[in-house]
Amino acid sequence: MSAAEGNQPIDESADFPVPPPLTDHGPARIVALCNQKGGVGKTTTTVNVAAALAEYGRRVLIVDFDPQGAASVALGIPARESDKTVYDALMSPATALKDVIVRTAWDGIDVAPANIDLSAAEVQLVGEVARESALARALRDVAEDYDSILIDCQPSLGLLTVNALTAAHGVIIPLETEYFALRGVALLVETISKVADRLNPKLKIDGILATMYDARTLHSREVLERVRDAFGNSVFDTVIARTVKFPDASVAAEPILFFAPNHAGANAYRRLARELIARGDAA
Ligand SMILES: Nc1ncnc2c1ncn2[C@@H]1O[C@H](COP(=O)(O)OP(=O)(O)OP(=O)(O)O)[C@@H](O)[C@H]1O
Ligand SMILES: [Mg+2]
Repeated sequence: MSAAEGNQPIDESADFPVPPPLTDHGPARIVALCNQKGGVGKTTTTVNVAAALAEYGRRVLIVDFDPQGAASVALGIPARESDKTVYDALMSPATALKDVIVRTAWDGIDVAPANIDLSAAEVQLVGEVARESALARALRDVAEDYDSILIDCQPSLGLLTVNALTAAHGVIIPLETEYFALRGVALLVETISKVADRLNPKLKIDGILATMYDARTLHSREVLERVRDAFGNSVFDTVIARTVKFPDASVAAEPILFFAPNHAGANAYRRLARELIARGDAA
């Protein structure tokens, strides 16, 4: 077992201060986790940043915005066919997002679940007035209840992702630390700029998060260096190492923070949450 896979608690709290508890809550800062490339750590980052923020006393809502419903499953709340989901809140005037939100087993973490129904929204929204702002509208009456809302996007740059970007204040771009990682990022950044220009002037890129980093390989180190060269300060200082504990936690349907609380992977996401708060990208 390598050091990165060890189970030793690592105290990285020196880097970014542990935030003081909040005395009151809301309105939420809304963050979309986007990358049209699949399997880069969007869902893992969403649920674990949520878990870390909740540990720091923040109230967090996860919006599962992927018809695969991976974030819902990762939180132990798989949406059944009959359940009300984000789809209903988007498409049915009779359903508010509040009616869809479910509490998870963990204090401070709620989820608006999704299932395959959401894939129909991509098509059905096309004919709607203000089709890009359906999610922003749905989030309006819950924003006061949370400190952070995290939107787990699907791997595409379609209308659902544009909805997430239109609703958000910030974007986190998880990037797998491997050779072709940067392919497609230019297109994503261009999409974000267009949405900021045309639909959502407050939108900014909070940062690029290097995930699945393997410090033992020269390759991983070189890619991280290239990412830092290309994006400078936009790259989070916190890097998420590659470890099998993440798939293990996925199988257990728990964030790694609760599945293996002392694991280096859990501490890395705690550190990312502190970094977000220190940068003003979370409350
Ligand atoms: N740091 C990591 N080390 C090892 N495995 C990881 C890491 N982060 C995520 N994984 C695993 O990689 C797979 C893909 O991760 P995840 O589902 O978070 O990516 P995604 O970007 O949301 O994928 P999709 O585009 O399909 O929605 C999962 O099995 C997850 O457990
Ligand atoms: Mg995902």
